[in-house]
Parts: sequence; C-alpha cells; structure tokens
Amino acid sequence: MPKNRNETGVIQSIEWLDDHLRIIDQTYLPEHDVYLDIYEVGRVWEAIRSLRVRGAPAIGIMAAYGLYLGLKDHPDTSYDEFESERRRISEYLASSRPTAVNLQWALDRAARTIHAARARPVSEIKNQLLALAETIHEEDKRICADIGRIGQELIPENARILTHCNTGSLATGKYGTALSMIYHAHLNGNKVHIWVDETRPLLQGSRLTSWELQKSGIEHHIIADSMAGSVMQKKQVDLVVVGTDRVARNGDTANKIGTYSLAVLAAWHNIPFYVAAPLSSIDMNLESGDHIPIEERPEDELRKIGRHRTAPKNAPAYNPAFDVTPHELITAFVTEKGIIKPDFSKNLDRITRKN
Ligand code: MRU
Repeated sequence: MPKNRNETGVIQSIEWLDDHLRIIDQTYLPEHDVYLDIYEVGRVWEAIRSLRVRGAPAIGIMAAYGLYLGLKDHPDTSYDEFESERRRISEYLASSRPTAVNLQWALDRAARTIHAARARPVSEIKNQLLALAETIHEEDKRICADIGRIGQELIPENARILTHCNTGSLATGKYGTALSMIYHAHLNGNKVHIWVDETRPLLQGSRLTSWELQKSGIEHHIIADSMAGSVMQKKQVDLVVVGTDRVARNGDTANKIGTYSLAVLAAWHNIPFYVAAPLSSIDMNLESGDHIPIEERPEDELRKIGRHRTAPKNAPAYNPAFDVTPHELITAFVTEKGIIKPDFSKNLDRITRKN
C-alpha cells in the first residue's frame, strides 16, 4: 500500500489576524472563495446565525473570539461591570445557534478563565481572553488530527464510506472530525471511496464536503439523501461516519437532519455507524437526547435553493436543522482520547471524567 501521501488541500477556514477574524464565507462555496473580515461581536453572531461559518467546533472557536471582540473595548475600570458585560455578551452569542454545545462550552470556558483572573486588572483579563480563544483554536486542530489518526483504524482497506453534512476543515480548526478520519486514511494510502450525502436543505454535503474532498484528491460521488438506502441495499457501503453537534450522557446524538434516517438504514443493513465527536461536543449535563435543543430554521430554506424558488411562495414548511440518533443505533464514538464502544453511559462518563 503506498504510504504517506502529502498533506494536500487542507484549508483553514478561520484565522485570527492581530485584531480581527478572517473567515471563508461558506455561503458562497463552492462557486466563489469569499473571505470575510470580522471586527465586532455583532458580525460574529450574524456569521454563525447565517452559516457563513458552521459546524460545531468552528462555532465554538468563533464564540471564543467573538467574546473577546465584544469585550476588548469595555472600560478597564471595574471587574464587576466587566463580568456583567461578559454575561450579557455570552448570552447574546449563545442565542445565535442552540444545538451545537461547543458554543456554550467555549463560553463557559471563558467564564472560568475570567473568574480565575478576577484579582488581575481588567486589561490583563482581556489579554487572557484572547489567549484562550487562540488556545481553543489551536487545540481544535490537534484534537481533529487525533480523531483522524485514531478513527482511521476503523476504516478497512478500500472502504466505501457514506457521510453526511460537512465535517471537514470548514467545520473545525483544521482537518475536521468524521472527514479527518477519511482524510487520514487517505494520507496513509488507503484507497477509500466516499458517498457524499447531498444534505438537504442547505447542501453542506454537495457544496462543502465535495469541495474539500476534491481539493484533497479523495475519490467520491455525491448522492441525493434519498439514495442512501439504495446504495446500502446494493452492498456499496462498508461503514457510515458522521459528526455531531451534541452527544448526551447516554450517547444519544444530535447531528444534521437526516442522520437519524441513515442510522436506521445502517442498522437494517448491518453496516457500522460511527460518530466522530471531540470531547467538547459531549454534554454530560444532559441525560438523553430528549433534552437536546433542536434549532428550527427559516421556512424559505426549504422553499428555495439559492435565489430560485422550488415551492409556492407561502407553502408551509417545517425545517428542523438537526435530529437525534438514539444511542442504540451507534456502533462507536471516535474521540481524541480513543474509540468509545457501548456501554456509552459508562464509557462516556469515564472518558470525560479523565480529561
Ligand atoms: O448546520 P450545520 O452545517 O452547522 O451542521 C453541522 C453538522 O451537523 C455537523 O455534522 C456537526 O456540526 C459536526 S462538524 C465537525
């Protein structure tokens, strides 16, 4: 097997440049590479809400920088006032998208940093906040590389892999989660083939995952979401690997709408179903998936593709952005600390306690 291909096509979708963020505006992909410079917290909120930047880990990174941007010009006088402003801005950022727990995770981590530094001058705390955002960003790149290295062991030679949504470099600091597993298998010379679910309604699969796979030279075909059952039935899928926005304590997993249907299909066809999940996506405060908040998005996302209307103007539409896959349908989680098999309640507890 030809080993060690060069690292090609891996992009960084978020950059911090001295005093501002530069992101690839994902709403223009794959047609145009448009970069957006962001200097203030309101624009961070808008970028998250409008999916200019998306994917659970990327949203967490943005929230950390966003909090710093929102607080950096606050008067350096009183800690109490600074802390109350921190609370206000955190709530504001958290309101941008409710499902990915990474957003709240990053804001909680910032709250702890500020609290621990409460005896220091506010000007110094601000520097610590920026340093924390940069740390979260750098850590995510390492975590995603680890998920990729660990998870590729689950991928047999020449495997045909089905994936959903976009879980690549665009959705994280670098490499991705589920896509990092695929990418690392490819780097190791494994000739994988990927079935890329189109991922209606916003087409993260065909617009973004295919764009990333093409850049890295990974063989793939886009399929409409409704074709997944048929390729499984024809024995053209060896495993399914997806990302997650939030995993509850018992292993129930929220991810892009359509993931649950894939898990049911995979179970019926006896195909392993893996979830790549950084520890920052595991919410040990929630007992089960019943408690995961599911974002509902504008009806027009279902009535239009881009500017083109695909349904009557005011036709009622129901648009939940995520669904919850019950833990019984999941074969294993791939985290940066190892592969987690059932019993998930016990094993997720162990892995999150240790770290
Ligand atoms: O609505 P999106 O595009 O932000 O949804 C993204 C997903 O569902 C991803 O699978 C998940 O965030 C994991 S990204 C590594």
